[in-house]
Amino acid sequence: MWESRWFQRFWGIVGAASVRVKVLGIVLGVIVLLGLFVMVQMRQALYGTLEAALQAQGIDLAQFVGGRVDDARLCCDADMVTDVLEGLQEHYSGNGHNTLVDYMFVTDENGDLIAASDADALTPEVIRPTVPFSEPQVRHLKTAQGDVIDITMPLPQSGGEFRIGLAEDNIEQIVLVVTTQIISLTLVMVAVGFVAAFFLTWILTRPLLSLLDATRTVAKGDFSVQVPRWANDEIGDLSEAFNAMTRSLAQAERERAERENLRASYIRRVITAQEDERKRIARELHDSTSQSLTSLLVGLRHLEEASDPATAKARLAEIRKTVNGTLDEVHALAWQLRPSVLDDLGLAAALQRYIGDYQTRYAIQVDFVFRNLAERLPIEIETTLYRVIQEGLTNIARHAQAQNASILLEQRAASVRVILEDNGVGFDAETVTYSQKSLGLQGMRERVALLNGKLVIESQPGQGTSLFIEIPLTEAKETSA
Ligand SMILES: Nc1ncnc2c1ncn2[C@@H]1O[C@H](COP(=O)(O)OP(=O)(O)O)[C@@H](O)[C@H]1O
Ligand SMILES: [Mg+2]
Repeated sequence: MWESRWFQRFWGIVGAASVRVKVLGIVLGVIVLLGLFVMVQMRQALYGTLEAALQAQGIDLAQFVGGRVDDARLCCDADMVTDVLEGLQEHYSGNGHNTLVDYMFVTDENGDLIAASDADALTPEVIRPTVPFSEPQVRHLKTAQGDVIDITMPLPQSGGEFRIGLAEDNIEQIVLVVTTQIISLTLVMVAVGFVAAFFLTWILTRPLLSLLDATRTVAKGDFSVQVPRWANDEIGDLSEAFNAMTRSLAQAERERAERENLRASYIRRVITAQEDERKRIARELHDSTSQSLTSLLVGLRHLEEASDPATAKARLAEIRKTVNGTLDEVHALAWQLRPSVLDDLGLAAALQRYIGDYQTRYAIQVDFVFRNLAERLPIEIETTLYRVIQEGLTNIARHAQAQNASILLEQRAASVRVILEDNGVGFDAETVTYSQKSLGLQGMRERVALLNGKLVIESQPGQGTSLFIEIPLTEAKETSA
């Protein structure tokens, strides 16, 4: 039914009306329908009962007058009978009675007219003869004057019959009065209903309109709006829920702006750090590499000037030593910039080499265990894990005062996990991570977050430090694809 074309057409028109019009339409429609229904019912019931009463009264009257006429006919002539009929008609149509007699007349046994109260009223449809009978007979006639209840009485002594017609005008009058009353009552109810429905829709739509306004404001990006709670009902609850929503939107917006700020300041600091790193490399190139190359130039000039082969050989050995040293320096520099072994041999090999170096340099014992590791992981995961572990180990060397550290590198079904622990002095991870100074820890966090991974730091002063890192494999592949 809801899909039918007619319903859709209907709803296209009705649905587009405002709530006020809908409520008004329903209320007024119901009142008018109710009024019509009551009116029709009342008219029918009234007609029925009033007609039955009039009929009973008519029969009584016919019996009484019939008796009088029967007696009069035995003693007197037709004029007397006419006088009796006229007198009685006047009497029973008078003020003291609720009947209105249209006509009275008497016929003989052949059906011929003997006497009548009002000859004008005896139209053909009235005079039409009745069938033989012994009881009073009732008919409903329509005459030129209006509807009439016609009663026929047999006259037992004189033969013939007596007829009386009672007008139904009174019934129509009463029904008309009642109908007018019902109609005016309905109109009054329509007026009252109109006012009530108007008030109701005002109560309903006022908070809705203010909610609508507020929603539009929120859509423009202003989350500070709050709507008043008009009443303690469902709409009030809706307003409350709306306010809670804007409050949490505002809160989320504040947090987002804060994160954005942190991120921006992090990026600034990263750029500064990169610039510092370049300065350091430039200085290193200038201070040591170009120094070595300069001394190489000097050595070469001396070699040129050398006259005997023995001196030349000694100079050559010196030059060879300098070239060797320079080569080492360039190697070290290149290694710091990016360990080529990570690209060539993969994460585990690169870490092993780095850890070997680290142990001899800092005298810290490092246990390195790796499990289920695939030959190669996506390159961005390898780089991230390498840098994060490098920073973690550097922190241990610089801050932890530890003797031992351990690294567990483990590949799982859908992720890679790293646990990096030391037995050093520990620190308050909560306060340090969010302070502006800890570039290393924040850098780890950012790198891991870029791959949708997570980093958890567990540390207490005096308890050592554990870093847990987990990076998903599937998602990383999706984002890199
Ligand atoms: N393994 C660790 N043991 C003890 N303290 C640590 C450790 N790692 C980090 N910290 C503390 O956290 C701080 C922030 O570290 P980090 O962000 O790497 O900055 P930085 O190393 O430049 O000081 C360090 O200054 C140190 O106090
Ligand atoms: Mg650090």
